[in-house]
Amino acid sequence: MLIKWSDDLKIGVEQIDGEHQRIFEEFDKLYSLMRVGEGIDFYPMVMNFLEDYLIDHLKHEESLQRSVEYTDYDNHKQMHDFFREKVNAFKSKQYRKIQNKDLIQLNLFMQQWFVEHIIKEDMKLGEFIKKKEHESSTE
Ligand SMILES: [Fe+2]
Repeated sequence: MLIKWSDDLKIGVEQIDGEHQRIFEEFDKLYSLMRVGEGIDFYPMVMNFLEDYLIDHLKHEESLQRSVEYTDYDNHKQMHDFFREKVNAFKSKQYRKIQNKDLIQLNLFMQQWFVEHIIKEDMKLGEFIKKKEHESSTE
């Protein structure tokens, strides 16, 4: 079962929300390819996108957090580090024999991680920024 992007996943920061949405679109693309049994042919392409785009995205988030002096930065970065390690582990599989089930596993892991991370962690960041903007506008 594929999780679709919805406005409920927005954290209220335009750039981050846009990137999250695009990541979901990629998951969706990968899922469609896998369903028709062609996922394997697109694996390097999708993997590169995920690796480059996702990792850039995490960097964007981290630099945003630094710029707003996010109090939960270290903790949040640790979660990103965990994700980066997973991506690297999957990437090293490229050199072995990859099967469609590996792609399904990869896709499910990334989706679940992302949804959970957005809901639990990125939302907190969104709230933090909102609060901070509110405080500075009422000073
Ligand atoms: Fe994050």
